[in-house]
Amino acid sequence: MAQHIVILTGAGVSAESGLGTFRDVDGIWSKFDPMELASPEGFARNPVKVLDFYNARRRNLVDAQPNAAHFALAKLEQGLAERGGLLTLVTQNIDDLHERAGSANVLHMHGELLKARCGACSAVMNCREDLSVSDACPGCGDVGALRPHVVWFGEYPEHLDDIAVALADADMFISIGTSGTVWPAAGFVLQARETGARTVELNLEPSDDGRVFDEAHYGPASEIVPDWVETYLT
Ligand code: OAD
Repeated sequence: MAQHIVILTGAGVSAESGLGTFRDVDGIWSKFDPMELASPEGFARNPVKVLDFYNARRRNLVDAQPNAAHFALAKLEQGLAERGGLLTLVTQNIDDLHERAGSANVLHMHGELLKARCGACSAVMNCREDLSVSDACPGCGDVGALRPHVVWFGEYPEHLDDIAVALADADMFISIGTSGTVWPAAGFVLQARETGARTVELNLEPSDDGRVFDEAHYGPASEIVPDWVETYLT
């Protein structure tokens, strides 16, 4: 039967690629203050510090490689398409590892680290190099207005309309590698349940919402995601 699967991924899917998670013991927010580094107010107060934080993360990302979980999700997208189904991959991650593994239908709800945006003219551009406060926007020429094209606390996530449409149409919702603590993503499992979708959690350990899922598998994403996909496609 043709199925529409909506998947939500979080930092846990990229953890084994060497990109940090946020709320684990060694997580990014245990070392850095999110209000300083991931809010419009923090950027206004200290743009150099904020740009340096994202410059370091961008350099890590350029050197990182997709892991078996990313490749398995690309295989699932292809396998579903061959069966007349559809995969919508919603990610809270700002990395491009899903795309590099071959996923095509990816919605980055928290933006993309390899893009920059101009705070003056709103132009969005590819960005693989460090950003500096002395950079000029290639569109409008404004100096000092370029910022990472990422969603900060207090800002609206991207693609919420498309995500709502996908959730309303989903036969299955799978949450992978996310603590389920940041809204609106934390509410997607309940939205999917309301429209009758089967819900699955694949995570290192039960998330805050763990009990609401119909099915759950716990372990490293590089193992449990390929296992789940293999079982589903055979
Ligand atoms: P969190 O750090 O909150 O949660 C990561 C989840 O991944 C936890 O549930 C871990 O148990 C799990 N995990 C860790 N290693 C794993 C592994 N190898 N395999 C499988 N699971 C693993 O990260 P997110 O839920 O993605 O937003 O955080 C959501 C948002 O909060 C982020 O997008 C970011 C952050 O603040 C913004 O910056 C706007």
